Amino acid sequence: MAKSKFTVQIVENREVAKDTFLFKMHLLGQRIDPKPGQFLELVCSPATLLNRPFSIHYFYDDKKHIKILFRNIGNGTDFLSKKAVGDYTEFYGPFGKGFSINKKDKNIAIIAGGIGYAPMVFLIKELLKQKNLSNLDVFYGNKHKDDFVEFWRLNNNKLRFFLSTDNGSVGEKGFITDVFYKYLKKKEGSFDRIYTCGPVKMMKKISEISSDFKIPAEGSFESRFGCGFGVCLGCSFKLKTGDCVKVCKDGPVFDLEKIDWSQIIEE
Ligand SMILES: Cc1cc2nc3c(=O)[nH]c(=O)nc-3n(C[C@H](O)[C@H](O)[C@H](O)COP(=O)(O)OP(=O)(O)OC[C@H]3O[C@@H](n4cnc5c(N)ncnc54)[C@H](O)[C@@H]3O)c2cc1C
Ligand code: FES
Repeated sequence: MAKSKFTVQIVENREVAKDTFLFKMHLLGQRIDPKPGQFLELVCSPATLLNRPFSIHYFYDDKKHIKILFRNIGNGTDFLSKKAVGDYTEFYGPFGKGFSINKKDKNIAIIAGGIGYAPMVFLIKELLKQKNLSNLDVFYGNKHKDDFVEFWRLNNNKLRFFLSTDNGSVGEKGFITDVFYKYLKKKEGSFDRIYTCGPVKMMKKISEISSDFKIPAEGSFESRFGCGFGVCLGCSFKLKTGDCVKVCKDGPVFDLEKIDWSQIIEE
């Protein structure tokens, strides 16, 4: 199937945390219907030959604007960080299997590490629309206080944020997975579902915790892509069944309990 390519106009591109850019695009009358957890492939030519995948950070109710949030780590992201408001850019998508939303869920936990916060804001927005939702607890960890994106101040009485940094300069000192584990141990009830995105090591830990506490958990993998369309196997890993899956074709969101973590290289 041919991929749809969109030419869009940049209406905002600013550094909102250390080396982290909020990139808002106007769809110029074109229609898309993205789901939380799906991604776009941004054209970064001539800086890079291959397109670069980014989770959808936010989709506006006016359906005219869409945002990504990216960390500037190389040629493609550096190219995007230098784009000016008013410039045009191109993307393909939206692609992929996003997060599943279950209307019956009442208590939900989101665990985001670093730039893994990117897909969570669109997810938070959609989850807050669910009538049954009582609590949405967001655990957001970063190495340093300068890495936090301001949006965590979002104001809604169902939403609570728990923060952590490596040195304790914001929130608790230590890993966000430890904060989450301590919270689960103390809490009388439990969560109906966990959604997570961040470093593989973090999601592996979440998988262990979710399995101990018997909570379904879904994670989005922001692995390095090669081809981006299922041919090179660069983004593949194995499930416990032995089946090989590809993040670009079968993901990026997977049930954590199905993954054979022993096969995955932690970065
Ligand atoms: C489904 C999906 C969603 C993603 N969503 C986001 C997002 O919302 N925000 C965001 O900032 N990033 C996201 N990423 C990662 C993003 O695609 C990469 O950061 C980007 O492709 C880097 O391109 P570059 O040309 O700037 O870096 P390159 O020049 O290609 O690489 C620079 C350096 O970074 C390393 N690197 C490149 N890609 C990755 C990676 N994925 N993980 C770890 N190290 C890497 C390279 O090995 C190299 O050392 C996502 C990835 C996937 C697969
Ligand atoms: S990036 Fe090539 S198979 Fe997924």
